[in-house]
Amino acid sequence: MSQAAKIRVENLVKIFGDEPAGAALDMLLDGHLKDEIKEHTGHVVGVDRANFEVEEGEIFVVMGLSGSGKSTLIRCVNRLFEPTAGRVYVDDIDVTTLDETALQAFRRDHTGMVFQHFALFPHQTVVANVAFGLKVKGVDAAKRRATAIEALALVGLSGYEDSYPGQLSGGMQQRVGLARALATEPDILLMDEAFSALDPLIRRQMQDELIDLQSELQKTILFITHDLNEALRVGTRVCIMKDGNIHQIGSPEDILMRPATNYVAEFVQDVDQGRVLLVDSVTDEQAPCLGESSTVSEALAVMDHHGLDAVHIIDRNQVPCGLVHKKIAESVVSPQSDTVSALAASTHTVTSETVLAKVYRMLGEGNPIAVVDEGGRFAGSVTPVAVLSELGRVESISENLELHRSETEVM
Ligand SMILES: Nc1ncnc2c1ncn2[C@@H]1O[C@H](COP(=O)(O)OP(=O)(O)OP(=O)(O)O)[C@@H](O)[C@H]1O
Ligand SMILES: [Mg+2]
Repeated sequence: MSQAAKIRVENLVKIFGDEPAGAALDMLLDGHLKDEIKEHTGHVVGVDRANFEVEEGEIFVVMGLSGSGKSTLIRCVNRLFEPTAGRVYVDDIDVTTLDETALQAFRRDHTGMVFQHFALFPHQTVVANVAFGLKVKGVDAAKRRATAIEALALVGLSGYEDSYPGQLSGGMQQRVGLARALATEPDILLMDEAFSALDPLIRRQMQDELIDLQSELQKTILFITHDLNEALRVGTRVCIMKDGNIHQIGSPEDILMRPATNYVAEFVQDVDQGRVLLVDSVTDEQAPCLGESSTVSEALAVMDHHGLDAVHIIDRNQVPCGLVHKKIAESVVSPQSDTVSALAASTHTVTSETVLAKVYRMLGEGNPIAVVDEGGRFAGSVTPVAVLSELGRVESISENLELHRSETEVM
């Protein structure tokens, strides 16, 4: 087990039916498929030999379509479902062997759960709902209220302590659910489709808040979603499931750029094409550009002024025809007289209607891409950083791009 692994799942199997560890398990271990096992034994395979580790402080996202086994997997972690085979470790606790009392204590002291349907008590105030887990823990009333108020402040709900759930919007109710889970200060948060019932705008807001909260609290989060966009936005790593099997575990950029199976490749493609996230959403329309006859000095001044590493060059019809890199411009001996056209490296162009999925690969080169209008004229710029921050993953990827860029410069 690597040093920082918080949760370790080994060969976890969950089969539903009267005799899960019988013929159905034998068939599974013999390599038979979920459908065959169902047909022969009437048993349903929920999870098939899952193996993964969740590092302390990461948001580990399990993604897959309906029925792929996500909820089954997460419920085996705190044994709301009894695993058929395999092991689950949290720190050095083997969760699979805990007796009933120890299991209750484990759930109470280590885990918090947030569900899709907020599961709040309608006749209790918000603060009473949040304090519920503390009551179970035996915390006294005054301390419960104080802690619950703190947890509500964390999720931006100060002032709503004495409201009733029915008086809050869906997003606010889900914040209450999150506060309730946080109030007991669990080290592991299990979130099963926690944002799926929210409308898209609120949902994105909640995703952002979760990312912010996580950078502060550094919990270990197992987050389930059937939405790839959500997975890519919030996930430190993403695990893709189908029919109870794990197809790939990787960083968001691994999943997008290096899909491990055809299924993942199709999934990435389908979801991205079907969605509305277009280049438009990350275009900097104010991005400067320069005519071909501009001098290198002018280019350097523009890049300095805008804080850019590169600037687009356009021809007399305003069509992008290249890119000048700051590093290269700086090495020019007579910048006052040389024009940028001599330095221009080739550039990619896209329209604002292009789906983001189509530009990931181009952005992997580390350079900005020119956005053009219907007439092919320069209309703005898209930078790798803008796209990656859109995906909520700036740091890790921009590091990679930096590396990539310095490699290509050497060549
Ligand atoms: N209590 C149960 N009894 C029998 N079969 C079950 C039970 N719970 C889940 N299953 C089966 O296990 C498989 C995985 O279901 P699971 O609920 O884990 O999927 P999921 O990925 O969470 O789907 P969703 O996105 O719809 O929530 C499915 O084939 C489902 O029919
Ligand atoms: Mg589910």
